[in-house]
Amino acid sequence: MSKKAKIAFVCQECGADYPRWNGQCTSCGEWNAIKEVRLGAVASERNNRSLGYAGSVSEVKLLSDVSLAQAERIATGMSEFDRVLGGGIVTGSVVLIGGAPGAGKSTLLLQAIANIAIQGVPVLYVSGEESLQQIAERAHRLGLPADKIMMLAETSVQRICDVLDEIQPKVLVIDSIQVVYSQDVESAPGSVSQVRESASYLTQYAKKHHISIFMVGHVTKDQSLAGPMTLSHIVDTQVMLSSTDDARFRVLRADKNRFGSVGELGFFAMDSAGLKEVKNPSAMFLNRPDKPSPGSVVTVLWEGTRPLLVEIQALVTECQYGNPRRLAVGFDQNRLAMLLAVLTRHGGIFTANDEIYANVVGGIRVTETSSDLAIIVGIVSSFRDKVIPHEAFFFGEIGLSGEIRPVANGQSRLNDAAKHGFKIAVIPKANAPKKRIEGLQIHPVATLSEALDVVS
Ligand code: TYD
Ligand code: MG
Repeated sequence: MSKKAKIAFVCQECGADYPRWNGQCTSCGEWNAIKEVRLGAVASERNNRSLGYAGSVSEVKLLSDVSLAQAERIATGMSEFDRVLGGGIVTGSVVLIGGAPGAGKSTLLLQAIANIAIQGVPVLYVSGEESLQQIAERAHRLGLPADKIMMLAETSVQRICDVLDEIQPKVLVIDSIQVVYSQDVESAPGSVSQVRESASYLTQYAKKHHISIFMVGHVTKDQSLAGPMTLSHIVDTQVMLSSTDDARFRVLRADKNRFGSVGELGFFAMDSAGLKEVKNPSAMFLNRPDKPSPGSVVTVLWEGTRPLLVEIQALVTECQYGNPRRLAVGFDQNRLAMLLAVLTRHGGIFTANDEIYANVVGGIRVTETSSDLAIIVGIVSSFRDKVIPHEAFFFGEIGLSGEIRPVANGQSRLNDAAKHGFKIAVIPKANAPKKRIEGLQIHPVATLSEALDVVS
C-alpha cells in the first residue's frame, strides 16, 4: 500500500472532496470554498477505501449469520440524558453533542461521566479548551468524585489514541472536536479537513476497541453544527443542547440516532449546582398567569416518546396600514397561512384585514400537525376577545376541507393532560377513548365548525 501523501480538493464549508479544483462546490453550492489539502499517509490510505467500517478488512457474510447480540448500554445516571440517547450510551458508539457557548455541554458531560465513573467504569475526559485546573474547580464546585475521573489536556489525535491504548477507558469525552488535530493533515486545527480527519480517526478507534465517545462540537451563527457535514454522517448519534426562552432551562434534542428515536427531548435546569433533570417538563412550559387571557390555549405535543403540554398564544389585531402581517413563531409559517385559509372557508371567520401573530411559548419548535386545532382556537379566541378556560386543552390535525383528523398516541396525550389537572378536552372524533378518563370531560369533534361551536 502506498504511504505517499495525497492531494485532495476539499470544500471548507461542507467537507465534500473532489479530484480537481472547482469554483463552486456541487454538494453545498458554496463558491470559492474548495481548497487544496495534502492528506497524510493514514488519511490517503483511508481514502483509498481499502478499510471498512471500524477500520478493519471486512468479509462477506449472510445476514442470518450476523449475531443479534443486544447493544450493551451504559447508563449516564441522568435519565433525561439516557432517554435522548435511546436508553443509555451504547458501547462503541460515537455521540456528537452540539450547542452554543455556555449552553452547558462541558457541564453535562462532566456530570454524566462522573456518574459513569461511580459505577466503576474507567472514563477519560480530554480537554483542549479549558485548562485542567478550570475543570477541577468545576468538579469540586459540583461535588463530583474527582478521584475517579481521569483527565488529559491534549489536542493531537494520535497522542490521544496512544493514551487510550495505555489506560483503556470505556468512555471518552473529547471537548471539543474542533481543537483536535491530526498530524497527518497539513492544515490548521479547526479546519474542515482536520475536523473530519480527527473525527473519523477517533470513530475508527472507538469501533475497533469498543469504547464510547462523546465529542463536543461548536455551532455556527444559525445554530447548526460547525464543521463538515460529513461529521454528522460519521457519528452514530447527534444531539443538540439549547436554552429555552427561560434561560434557566436547557433542552437536549436527538437530531440523529442510530440507537434510538429521533426528536426525543430531555429537559434540564441549570443552577449553581450544575444541570439538574426536569422530571416533569410540562410543568416547566405551562407556567401561566392565574387569570386566563384571550388567545392563550394549551395543546399536547408528542415529543419523541412522551407527551408534552405547551401553551400557544395568538394575537389578532386590526391592521392600521399596508399589508397585514402574519407571523408564526415556533412552527411553520406556511402552516399558519393554510390554517387561516381553512378558518375563512370552513369556520366563516374572515381575517384578511387583521395582523396575526402566533407563538409556541417556551421556545419549543413544533414539527407535528397535532397543534393545528389549538392554533386555530387560539386565533379565534383572540379574534373574538373571548377567553378559553384554563382547564381546557385541544389537539388534532386540520385538513383542507375543515375536517379534524386524528393524531398518534391520543390516549397517552389525554392521560397526561388529565394527570396535570386539565378537565375539558376538545379532540378529533377518531381519538375519542372507549373508556371514560377520570375527571376529563371530552368533546370529540369531526369538523372545524363543531370545534368552534364548543368554544363559542
Ligand atoms: P459550560 O458547560 O461551560 O458550557 P459549554 O461547554 O456548552 O460552553 O457551561 C457554562 C455555563 O453554565 C456558564 O454560563 C455558567 C453556567 N453554570 C452554572 O450556572 N452553574 C454551574 O454549576 C455551572 C458548572 C455552570
Ligand atoms: Mg465547554
